[in-house]
Amino acid sequence: MLTKAVVSLLFLLSVSRCGTSWQSYDAIYNFGDSISDTGNLCTGGCPSWLTMGQPPYGTSYFGRPTGRCSDGRVVVDFLAQFFGLPLLPPSKRNGTDFRKGANMAIIGATAMNLDFFQSRGLGSSIWNNGPLDTQIQWFQQLMPSICGGASDCRSHLSNSLFILGEFGGNDYNAPIFGGKSLDEVYTYVPHIVNKITSGVETLIGLGAVDVVVPGVLPIGCFPLYLTLYGSSNQSDYDGDGCLERFNDLSRYHNQLLKQGICSLQSKYAGVRLMYGDFYTQVTEMVRSPRSFGLEYGLTVCCGASGQGSYNYNNKARCGMSGSSACKDPQNGNATCTNDLQAFTGWLTLIGQ
Ligand SMILES: *[C@@H]1O[C@H](CO)[C@@H](O)[C@H](O)[C@H]1NC(C)=O
Ligand SMILES: *[C@@H]1O[C@H](CO)[C@@H](O)[C@H](O)[C@H]1NC(C)=O
Ligand SMILES: *[C@@H]1O[C@H](CO)[C@@H](O)[C@H](O)[C@H]1NC(C)=O
Repeated sequence: MLTKAVVSLLFLLSVSRCGTSWQSYDAIYNFGDSISDTGNLCTGGCPSWLTMGQPPYGTSYFGRPTGRCSDGRVVVDFLAQFFGLPLLPPSKRNGTDFRKGANMAIIGATAMNLDFFQSRGLGSSIWNNGPLDTQIQWFQQLMPSICGGASDCRSHLSNSLFILGEFGGNDYNAPIFGGKSLDEVYTYVPHIVNKITSGVETLIGLGAVDVVVPGVLPIGCFPLYLTLYGSSNQSDYDGDGCLERFNDLSRYHNQLLKQGICSLQSKYAGVRLMYGDFYTQVTEMVRSPRSFGLEYGLTVCCGASGQGSYNYNNKARCGMSGSSACKDPQNGNATCTNDLQAFTGWLTLIGQ
């Protein structure tokens, strides 16, 4: 039942491959934020300040916290297993063989560099040690150990699957939590999307051929947003119980991103760009959790009864003292309550 969500995610990716069947890949190289980080903040042991480095993170699959924002695996773990590749090691892990994959994703990552936020008075809202440009630099530093010289790299990278994203979630968290108006946040969207598409273009320049570019999630369905911005006016909510104005922002981002990917695709006939539609997947899980084998919709499991009705309390997030997790994570009760994003149970369970 959990795999159903993953399978339909894979299906979405496969249909956008225009009918081609699955090929095998030599490696997967992933870039992203907490949705796909597989432990870059925990390479020397998880730091005690990192809530995602504390139990019950990791409990459902690894039996210990691994630095993943999940009780189990994340989507890129399922993709690696689907393609018969090892789980992607975090790129910061020393002495590691990255020839079958590396994961540059890091919790809190933004698409934009720090100066973008600083110039908008948001520098202190960002705790990000690896924005997209930096992650691409990390990858370039690994390339000699992965594939040697430029021509060998072209061949290896053309047989690898690249995943760039999701990026953007933290770029929107920062100004929204920082009190900027949504009108202002809308003006950031083209900058963020351009940064993502130029990241894709850089990877193409290095030799990437198959690149998946996921869009952002319906942030108006996140328990964190629902708790912070809850409203007594029912018309602020959509039919799924999510805050409409934030989902509108997510959809606007995704619309521009899809346009950007399309223009890149027409510029580079030899590459295969794929849009990863997390938005629709997660919306369907919110709409009908039971058809994904889940019991609960928007209520987090790992948290603390606090404000509102989502079991989300910013002062007792998952992994902090005062929080607790429910006993049936397989029913959608276990959740990654990310410091920044407060992932909901069904998102975690894509990768449980
Ligand atoms: C990895 O190596 C770098 C450079 O030698 C070092 O600074 C870092 O502390 C090492 N990390 C771990 C987790 O050992
Ligand atoms: C409720 O929200 C809608 C749209 O979000 C707005 O048009 C309407 O004026 C609001 N009603 C109240 C009573 O604030
Ligand atoms: C899971 O969460 C739901 C909704 O908060 C709650 O009713 C249920 O009792 C929880 N289950 C367990 C086993 O904690």
